[in-house]
Amino acid sequence: MKRESQSPATLAWVGGVEGHLSLIDQTRLPTELTYVDCRDVECVWEAIRSLRVRGAPAIGVAAAYGVCIALQSAADGEEAALFARLDEVTTYLASSRPTAVNLFWALDRMKRCAEALRGEASLSEIRQKLLDEARAIEAEDRQMCRAIGRYGAELLADGQGVLTHCNAGGLATADYGTALAVFFAAAESGKRLHVYADETRPLLQGARLTSWELQQRGIDVTLICDSVAAQVMREGRVQAVVTGADRIAANGDAANKIGTYGVALLAAAHDIPFYVAAPSSTFDLSLASGDQIPIEQRDAREVTHGFGRQTAPEGVQVYNPAFDVTPARLIKALITERGVIEPVTRERIAEVVGADA
Ligand code: MRU
Repeated sequence: MKRESQSPATLAWVGGVEGHLSLIDQTRLPTELTYVDCRDVECVWEAIRSLRVRGAPAIGVAAAYGVCIALQSAADGEEAALFARLDEVTTYLASSRPTAVNLFWALDRMKRCAEALRGEASLSEIRQKLLDEARAIEAEDRQMCRAIGRYGAELLADGQGVLTHCNAGGLATADYGTALAVFFAAAESGKRLHVYADETRPLLQGARLTSWELQQRGIDVTLICDSVAAQVMREGRVQAVVTGADRIAANGDAANKIGTYGVALLAAAHDIPFYVAAPSSTFDLSLASGDQIPIEQRDAREVTHGFGRQTAPEGVQVYNPAFDVTPARLIKALITERGVIEPVTRERIAEVVGADA
């Protein structure tokens, strides 16, 4: 399906319990705004794995809808069969990508929703409630992003240059984004910002997605190669850095797109505040530190054959981790929908997101 729109939805559930998931194929942006319609759970798994849908919160929402799709075919069976299928598909969807905790958080929430109804409701009621739960996960993500934007905008001043890495925008969430929400909300409150967007090797989420989103919203943006970040900081063009996160440990160490750690080190060297914007669903308080966060390793061909052209000799060894971990000591504040966590300490994190994160 191909639709053109000024403010395209990252993903949308179409129809009722027997409906399907429509999502922007982010691998085709910025040149094509194309949608994929997922009518089976394998399609959702593949869309997450191949980054058609990507960004920690968006992956969680997509997986929740994936559960609904998988249970459509379990309509007429017995309750035990439906729960066996639920176990099977949540395990399957959880195998799509390992780092963003929002995926596991959303799948757990879907399982808990179904478990609460076991023996109490008909199978069709369970399937309806699961769709309601997936819709709630999506709606809450929209609200969390707006709140993150409001809190984060307070930290920026009119006329500042800001830098971001990867894409933590509306495309990475149900809507509006996390790091980019901060820029959107600041702009809506009348602050003029100039955003430097790292292109973000090897898959160019910054070039393809962030600069596209910022342009769509009329925000002043300059695209830079990742290796230019140090220079723009040295030239005094950047007064703050804001990125998203895929998983934040109990001590505040934050995993995000590979290259983020380097940007945080550069910001520290230039005395520039480095902020991480993320909803409570991105915190994993079961992990004491970032050393325990699983880091996804991706195909060498993303580095050697990016976007269809061979750029390295055949057979060269490649190391291609998709994420790195920025230690809490480099993060000035965490911007959440529940408020700004500063300083970034285990105690403050527990206070703000400890209740049900
Ligand atoms: O591999 P990706 O594109 O899914 O990586 C995404 C990021 O690293 C984002 O910065 C992160 O998920 C935050 S999204 C609000």
